[in-house]
Amino acid sequence: MTGGTDTMGRPLRRLRISVTDRCNMRCRYCMPEDEYVWLPRSSILTFEEITRLARVFVSLGVTRVRLTGGEPLLRHDVAALVGQLRSLDGLEDLAMTTNALLLARHAGALRSAGLDRLTVSLDTLRPERLLAFAKSDRWDSIVEGIGEARRLGFRGTKINAVVIRGFNDDELYDLIEFGRTYQVEIRFIEYMDVGGATQWTIDQVVSRDELLRRVADRYGSVRPAPSDPTAPAERYQLKDGTTFGIIASTTQPFCAACDRSRLTADGTWYTCLYAAGGVDLRELVRGGASDADLVEHIAGVWRRRTDRGAEERLALADRNTLYPVESLRADPRREMHTRGG
Ligand code: GTP
Ligand code: 5AD
Ligand code: SF4
Repeated sequence: MTGGTDTMGRPLRRLRISVTDRCNMRCRYCMPEDEYVWLPRSSILTFEEITRLARVFVSLGVTRVRLTGGEPLLRHDVAALVGQLRSLDGLEDLAMTTNALLLARHAGALRSAGLDRLTVSLDTLRPERLLAFAKSDRWDSIVEGIGEARRLGFRGTKINAVVIRGFNDDELYDLIEFGRTYQVEIRFIEYMDVGGATQWTIDQVVSRDELLRRVADRYGSVRPAPSDPTAPAERYQLKDGTTFGIIASTTQPFCAACDRSRLTADGTWYTCLYAAGGVDLRELVRGGASDADLVEHIAGVWRRRTDRGAEERLALADRNTLYPVESLRADPRREMHTRGG
């Protein structure tokens, strides 16, 4: 059985699983406060519960799973979860998005457990900026992690750089050069007004069009490169063959092809990054639901799905922060770090 398609004809293909809401950085665009309302420990799904749900999702047509956080490497022994997920029949691609602070230490175990791909969040090449912007003084550890992953055989690693005007938009060329040196593909991400981005304003967003103009000013022609039409990033190529991506969620949303959903660490399932509410799958799992019950429930929700959150945001005349801090405190699942980016 597959999950079929939603009301806009979109299949359920990708699942992002957040394994913890904790993070060891405090990026201004995601998790700027020092303290948060954390998910209660007893509500956090065990690896067995996550794997069971993932198996159900795979039976419904999910072929690609991405582990996220918070910071996924803060979850104790996450490589063991990678191993459990890797054994699921039908899962084609198992990836992780990490800030890489702990990657050098864990890359070997992740590789042995069968993780296919890594994406590393790295917004700046200047250690003093990382400290000011993300409250981390360990820029070297991130770069060491990227190098170690390559040494251990990870290929196709990507770098996510959220571009914010006045913060790092003077580093576009340096980031492209870094990508060349480390053989990783840089993806520039438009600053999004999601939960957590409590300091978002439209003037800090550097649009895809502007990014392309600025890269072309420096490198000459920029040509489109082959892209997966259902992936958030559009890829481009410079004259010398260097490729990079742009994720234009803010100014050119890609909801029409969105086959993604998200599972939080406490088992709440969201069918859109911007959705105000989700479906409590933990209650079903812990309440004795059979796999068939879960399949039926999940497929039913997907069939009724109407989400196009980023497109709706784009249509707003007066666009501002999605949620005020109080609303995020009242429901921490609205935070980007709980939802997994
Ligand atoms: P691959 O294409 O498989 O490498 O993964 P990905 O690009 O989907 O995953 P990644 O975690 O690297 O996502 C990059 C960024 O794209 C996220 O952090 C978000 O900012 C944005 N993004 C990813 N998925 C969505 C989505 O469903 N909706 C929106 N609006 N933005 C998304
Ligand atoms: N805008 C764009 N991307 C964001 N992320 C988190 N918050 C934002 C935001 N406000 C993304 C980063 C990171 C991923 C986990 O989440 O790209 O790589
Ligand atoms: Fe999908 Fe929602 Fe993102 Fe649009 S905003 S691409 S519907 S997750």
